[in-house]
Amino acid sequence: MKDQINTYLAEIEIFTAKTKDELEQFRIKYSGKKGILNDLFAGFKNVAAEERREMGVLLNELKGRVQEKIDTLRESLEGEQTAAGPARDLTLPVNFTDSGSRHPLMIIRNRMIEIFSRVGFTVAEGPEIEDDWHNFSALNFAPEHPARDMQDTFFIEKDPDIVLRTHTSSVQVRVMEKTKPPIRMIFPGRVYRNEAISARAHCFFHQVEGLYVDKNVSFADLRQTMLYFAKEMFSADTRIRLRPSYFPFTEPSAEMDISCNLCGGKGCGFCKYTGWVEILGCGMVNPNVLKNCGIDPDVYSGFAFGMGVERITNLVFNVKDLRMFSENDVRFLQQFESAWQ
Ligand code: PHE
Repeated sequence: MKDQINTYLAEIEIFTAKTKDELEQFRIKYSGKKGILNDLFAGFKNVAAEERREMGVLLNELKGRVQEKIDTLRESLEGEQTAAGPARDLTLPVNFTDSGSRHPLMIIRNRMIEIFSRVGFTVAEGPEIEDDWHNFSALNFAPEHPARDMQDTFFIEKDPDIVLRTHTSSVQVRVMEKTKPPIRMIFPGRVYRNEAISARAHCFFHQVEGLYVDKNVSFADLRQTMLYFAKEMFSADTRIRLRPSYFPFTEPSAEMDISCNLCGGKGCGFCKYTGWVEILGCGMVNPNVLKNCGIDPDVYSGFAFGMGVERITNLVFNVKDLRMFSENDVRFLQQFESAWQ
């Protein structure tokens, strides 16, 4: 038994564990219920009386060495793990970072650009902070026109007036001042109006403006271009309706309705049971505007149109509250990229 204990002591002396598992095996082997220590202590009663003292010391030493070994190895194994961080399973799948999604307004704006570019329209942009000339005067607004009123316009400076543009029609002027016809362009951008914020109105929104100036451009060209747009944007069976209206910068002017894309024109809550929904304003460029921009109205004519991107987006995606477009709630924003195309 003495030799046996000495062998164990030697074995313990050189033992080392690379993992907690190996250490646990060692612990079970020596200190487990059916381990070596219990075995030896159980055999102790058979030891001859004269050897008892020596054997007792040896056995206790063995027990102490086992515990010592377990303690030091456990300490060093845990130390290593804290230094290297928790054990990592390198076979687990990677946690991909969420990627963003396109904003619904931008999805629709891009779609509009794509539709008009197919029939030869290019894209231009203008500044959001405008002077009175480009936002109002050159567009044939009379000095007392109500749109200049504090109610609608955000003024940055007065006399001379600097404003946040109230529509993208200002870009028409900027382009016509610099470009000689033929001009066939669209102008997407953000516009600002001093309105109380609600589900149906916001102090800013987005527009896409269109301008076509050339020789012999007629109202028939306007109508056909608008019909093409409506069919491409909504569906091939979409119909359009032009109602007489007034804008200072177009003459004649019209508001355009499309047959309600939710009920197909039969009448529903969305179109207020009329079968039609208004989507844009348009008309033939007023000769005064051409003149203001240095284009001879006796040689050239043109049409212009302007529409709200939020409005069209609502029609396509059925978004009920305008404010959701600018609240940046990803649960809302993530729904659209995959829903389209
Ligand atoms: N600028 C007009 C608006 O904001 C829309 C429009 C543009 C109307 C071009 C006619 C022609 O309401």
